[in-house]
Amino acid sequence: MSNIFKQHFEITQEERKERNGHKAFVVWFTGLSGSGKSTLADAIEYKLFMDNVSCFSLDGDNVRFGLNQDLGFSAQDRKENLRRIAEVAKLMNNAGLICIASFISPLESDRDLVRQIIGQDRFVEVFVDTPLEECERRDVKGLYAKARRGEIDNFTGISAPYEPPIAPDIQIDTTKTSLEKSVDRIYTFIKEKM
Ligand code: ADX
Repeated sequence: MSNIFKQHFEITQEERKERNGHKAFVVWFTGLSGSGKSTLADAIEYKLFMDNVSCFSLDGDNVRFGLNQDLGFSAQDRKENLRRIAEVAKLMNNAGLICIASFISPLESDRDLVRQIIGQDRFVEVFVDTPLEECERRDVKGLYAKARRGEIDNFTGISAPYEPPIAPDIQIDTTKTSLEKSVDRIYTFIKEKM
């Protein structure tokens, strides 16, 4: 980086934390399309908000309508998608918010990059481990059917890889754990970290 300089601002992270009454970090949901990431994120955000926690949700589909509308689903574009999201999540943390991020984020190397940008101590990884067969059975958006017909390239789980996280903080199989129980588990973890 040349010709640019970091500016110093008066308000510190500590002061924001004091005012908000909690720490800022990122709860990162990873899993296949249709695994239930957004449903869980929505329920968690609702609970946090009702508890007067400053929080905001970032979601794969939504961000691709705006900030990342120039990106597709090649490995290179997904990496750039996730890099930008990680930078945005970091800014949200710097603003004092707990950020809930729901992205397929299929590759270990990309999730490592995200963790590195956000910072290990501010990164909570939740693996929504719903089996492919179940995601495909649900097929809420009809995308698996399209991918099977060859109408979508690089579809995660069908024609593009998903690498399961090696050591997630929380792992949930939505076919085995109810939404209510899953939300409780994640919420307890978040509360302890706050
Ligand atoms: S990521 O791989 O870059 O993390 P992201 O979470 O932003 O993906 O976007 C995933 C959403 O885009 C899916 O939930 C699905 O609705 C839609 N989508 C469209 N094309 C694809 C594709 N080829 N692979 C996966 N998801 C796709």
